Amino acid sequence: MMNNEQLVGNEVAEAVREGLSQSPRRLPSWLLYDTEGSRLFAQIMHLPEYYLTRSEFEIFAQYKEDFARLFSPGGEPFELIELGPGDGLKTKVLLRHFVEQNLPFSYIPVDISEDALNQLAAALQLQWPGLDVRPQHDDYFRALALLSEEYTRKVVLFLGSNIGNYAWDEIHEFYHQLSRRLRPGDLVVTGFDLQKHPAVIQAAYTDSAGLTRAFNLNLLRRLNRELDATFDLSAWDHYETYNPETGEARSYLVSQKAQTVRFGALDWEVTFPYADLIHTEISRKFRAEEINRLAAQTGFAVKEWKTDCKGYFADVVFERLHTE
Ligand code: AVI
Repeated sequence: MMNNEQLVGNEVAEAVREGLSQSPRRLPSWLLYDTEGSRLFAQIMHLPEYYLTRSEFEIFAQYKEDFARLFSPGGEPFELIELGPGDGLKTKVLLRHFVEQNLPFSYIPVDISEDALNQLAAALQLQWPGLDVRPQHDDYFRALALLSEEYTRKVVLFLGSNIGNYAWDEIHEFYHQLSRRLRPGDLVVTGFDLQKHPAVIQAAYTDSAGLTRAFNLNLLRRLNRELDATFDLSAWDHYETYNPETGEARSYLVSQKAQTVRFGALDWEVTFPYADLIHTEISRKFRAEEINRLAAQTGFAVKEWKTDCKGYFADVVFERLHTE
């Protein structure tokens, strides 16, 4: 979901009209990823408070041999399909090891952003000219449906706790869909951010450099540009709340005064009272039981479970079972 600026304007317009008419108001988190939002998120991944990327990097660096054995038992060929790879930084740790071990595999990054995909493919070709890279510019499920007809073992990567940005019903639907499209023995590796001391999570989304704030507020700048809206960014603030009972970190934009915003492209106005909220993102933190239950309810068995040394993050390998 990196950089969806080329999405048709209609989709943005519909999402905004629908979300801002609801109570409480909400905007879907995919709107955060225009070119500037994707750039800001790339910077967030390097923040000292944003432990997620470092934890997952550590897991791949530490356990790359184990992943190689799991993905290619007995040197079997496989297709490595990554949903939403971004800049592929973490995956490169695995790719390097697999290339060095001469494992027979193709790498299939799937993203709705053609720019991000082309950049990644070009960088990989330069680094490993022999690597078979087949970028798929598509929606995740259409891409899975189009994968090779003849049977090659499939390993799907969904990293970075991107799964945490979905609601529970969407998460269940996602794994059901995966389960329907995969065959018994195929694998799904998901990066789950785990529940931990709430202060650690709170800090990851209220960083002292203010990058998360800029990332959230940039959504309004996007609407000013794409929908000819009149948001005054100085009249909005970023607010993050983490509820350790539900595991949900939620991002909001807070109206700092009573104000009316006009959307020229929609010929529409919205009046925001003082302290009105727009909910922009959920970043869910998971408990082990929830992950085990998710696998059991969607046709998978938990095959491997890898965590970083602090136990902050888990990359969990699900194996598609014979019956759903
Ligand atoms: C992309 N996603 C997993 C990030 C997260 O942690 O939920 C997006 C993000 N939002 C604020 N900081 C990072």
